[in-house]
Amino acid sequence: MITIIGSGKVGSSAALQIAMKEIVDEILLLDIVEGLPQGEALDINHLLSEQGIDTIVKGSNDYTQMKGSDLVVLIAGVGRKPGMTRMDLLNTNTTIVKGVAEKIREYAKESIVITVTNPLDPMTYVTYKVTGFARERIMGMGNLLDLSRFKSFIAEKINVSRDSIQTLVIGEHGENMLPLVRYSTISGIPLERFLDKAERDQLVEDTRKVAAEVIRLKGATVYAPANAIAEMVESIVDDKRKLLPAAAYLNGEYNVSNIAIGVPIIIGKNGIEKIIELDLNKDERYIFDKGIESVKNAINSLAL
Ligand code: 2OP
Repeated sequence: MITIIGSGKVGSSAALQIAMKEIVDEILLLDIVEGLPQGEALDINHLLSEQGIDTIVKGSNDYTQMKGSDLVVLIAGVGRKPGMTRMDLLNTNTTIVKGVAEKIREYAKESIVITVTNPLDPMTYVTYKVTGFARERIMGMGNLLDLSRFKSFIAEKINVSRDSIQTLVIGEHGENMLPLVRYSTISGIPLERFLDKAERDQLVEDTRKVAAEVIRLKGATVYAPANAIAEMVESIVDDKRKLLPAAAYLNGEYNVSNIAIGVPIIIGKNGIEKIIELDLNKDERYIFDKGIESVKNAINSLAL
């Protein structure tokens, strides 16, 4: 069973996208708002039933219902409003995530947790610390979403199928995200062959800023984050061992410790199967380190 804590637009959309993959028997939507998870569950079940998909979606306000979950997606918290950075949510969401992580520790002891609440890297750290779970069982979804945006810009600029693009975004899921041009290819051909430096820099800049633009236009980002969650869930449930970027608690990798930040990970049935350490050049390392500094400052300000 998969539990999704937080049944707003992203949570319910993730439930739908996971269900459409036909990889689990049951998805539980939890929320403190009465009626919301129950209503979303009904609506999704109606869609699934017409499609002939037998995944059952349940909705509840009762945390004890998550007992026995193999996987928990933690999305509870408030989202960004137009003009806000992810880090502006730190204090409000720390209180919420801390409370929810305590429930996960109590009722879903054996689960793998994917944290989604912003600011993503500090909230992944809070989840790790409060649950006390092995670090392999805690990861944060942020970089895969950034990657989906980078890919979209590259496809548009080069006028090539999105399917031919391999790319990677690591570091902070925030102002210092690091789209890795050097590790991006069009079917194995380096991106540098298609775009000059100014064009590449522009795509990186656009990738950093576009979530704020979506929020300005429609109030929230929904489908792309839900898709990224479903992709990570699938890699765990089906033990696909996909190499995807996600926040992990680092213990010496990239020469940092006691921090959660985005890195390439092989994701499988045990959660984090392997953290991949990349050689970063001076410019890349500079941005990565700025992300580390930003996340460390946030973590240090928390009373856990
Ligand atoms: C996003 O990047 C707001 O972190 C969220 O869509």
